[in-house]
Amino acid sequence: MGFLEEIKRRRTFGIVSHPDAGKTTLTEKLLLFGGAIRVAGAVKSNKIKKGATSDFMEIERQRGISVATSVMGFEYRGYKVNILDTPGHQDFQEDTFRTLTAVDSVIIVIDAAKGVEPQTEKLMSVCRMRKTPVIVFINKLDRPARDTFTLLDEIEEQLKIKTRPLSWPINSGADFKGVYNIYKRSLNLFNPSVQEIEKGFLFEDILDPELEKHIGDDAHTLREELELVEGVYPEFEAEEYLNGELAPVFFGSALYNFGVQELLDAFVEIAPSPRPSFTEEREVNPEEDGFTGFVFKIHANIDPNHRSRIAFVKVCSGKFERNNVYKHIRSGKNIRISSPTAFMAAQKEVIDDAYPGDIIGVPDTGNFIIGDTITSGEDVHFKGLPSFSPELFRFIENADPMKSKQLAKGVDQLMEEGVAQLFTSQFNGRKIIGTVGQLQFEVIQYRLEHEYNAKCRFENMPMHKACWIECADKKVLTEFKKRKHQKMAVDKRGRDVFLADSPFILQMAQDEFKDIKFHFTSEF
Ligand code: G4P
Repeated sequence: MGFLEEIKRRRTFGIVSHPDAGKTTLTEKLLLFGGAIRVAGAVKSNKIKKGATSDFMEIERQRGISVATSVMGFEYRGYKVNILDTPGHQDFQEDTFRTLTAVDSVIIVIDAAKGVEPQTEKLMSVCRMRKTPVIVFINKLDRPARDTFTLLDEIEEQLKIKTRPLSWPINSGADFKGVYNIYKRSLNLFNPSVQEIEKGFLFEDILDPELEKHIGDDAHTLREELELVEGVYPEFEAEEYLNGELAPVFFGSALYNFGVQELLDAFVEIAPSPRPSFTEEREVNPEEDGFTGFVFKIHANIDPNHRSRIAFVKVCSGKFERNNVYKHIRSGKNIRISSPTAFMAAQKEVIDDAYPGDIIGVPDTGNFIIGDTITSGEDVHFKGLPSFSPELFRFIENADPMKSKQLAKGVDQLMEEGVAQLFTSQFNGRKIIGTVGQLQFEVIQYRLEHEYNAKCRFENMPMHKACWIECADKKVLTEFKKRKHQKMAVDKRGRDVFLADSPFILQMAQDEFKDIKFHFTSEF
């Protein structure tokens, strides 16, 4: 197969959801279709169970498992599908955000009884920022669900994206009869005792009285609802979906493997193959000859005795070849990657080559940091791996004066892995750790002790937000920094960060210093 065909057949995407909406179950069913796993239950264990948040053995176990399930590749109908796993636990959402920088599209899973939940909104805002094409899968129709039109309205309103149902559910819960596939004009009947997809019944004409034979009186309601759908929603335009302006919507029950194959079939057909990526210097097209890629995730401590890590590299352009010499742009050094791995059929195996859209695992002993670019030689730097303003802040102190070097090294490496963000106060030089969740502090403390033999203490720091500030007028910036000197810090790249105690103080600062731009992500 030629280089261009290899690119065109790749579908690299992420599945995201609010915890418990069914992301893991759906992932698993997709893998079953792709033949990547043979039995249900194989993916399940990649989840931090509720109540296990302080069970570090559990976290460690999860971290081991999630290497294997970080990327799941399989072949389906001639397509090469790469699913990038995202942590379900909200304390690890920063990880999810970064993973979303490496996908070409996203499937959002929504619980039909709960509708849009807070985490769904956050994840969607990241997709919107990047104009990532999104498909919505409304799950758990086997349970009593909210009214379909209400759900769609809620998605449009809260996720701020136009929707277009491509399938339509017939009731829900105990009365759930199945799904009408608007796209294919066929009816799939739900049978909870059969977990295999049955062949749909084709209905060129929805008025065909045969419909009554299958779903009885519900045929009438279905016709009415479909008429309404056609009246309310414009025709599905793939272009709008690809521009991230419209989300096609599918319905089903991942648990019963219902509606999943339809989703996958439509997905491979409409989802984009690898798209251009952006570097500080120029746009990079997947079809270019020169290899380029970037590190979006680092998995450390696979073997605690050897401090081994895997850097996950997304191939953005060109063909990657094992043992070729590539340039690590940040250090300017040449590197030779002799045992790159791919993640096919839930197994890690050494590969000889990879194409745009693929993710390769590169064994690393500490040379890579998140955001690093690797190329065949050209000096470009990939953009788009922002840090988000953390929500929880604590001073970090050394709890063992004999081990300050170990602590500094440990903190540095954990930050480079993207576990949390480090700020240094410009006022007194104290180190501040910022995270999105409580769990990270526990993970940091635990890992510092077990991997770096260092002890730390945290001191509470009630703070609302950290924002990166920028101003064209240097005088104004100096004035601001002088006035707020107790609340100024620098991030790991030495950029100015303002720590706002409360929303009120932030608002005051914004009102008073109108020329200053306050950014809530590190990339602007
Ligand atoms: P997540 O990754 O998004 O957090 O969700 P996950 O797939 O783990 O699903 C959360 C719970 O919802 C699981 O039940 C799962 O079995 C159930 N579930 C997922 N899809 C469906 C569906 O289509 N219908 C119904 N009725 N349930 C569904 P659990 O009891 O929390 O876990 P388990 O004990 O079943 O493993």
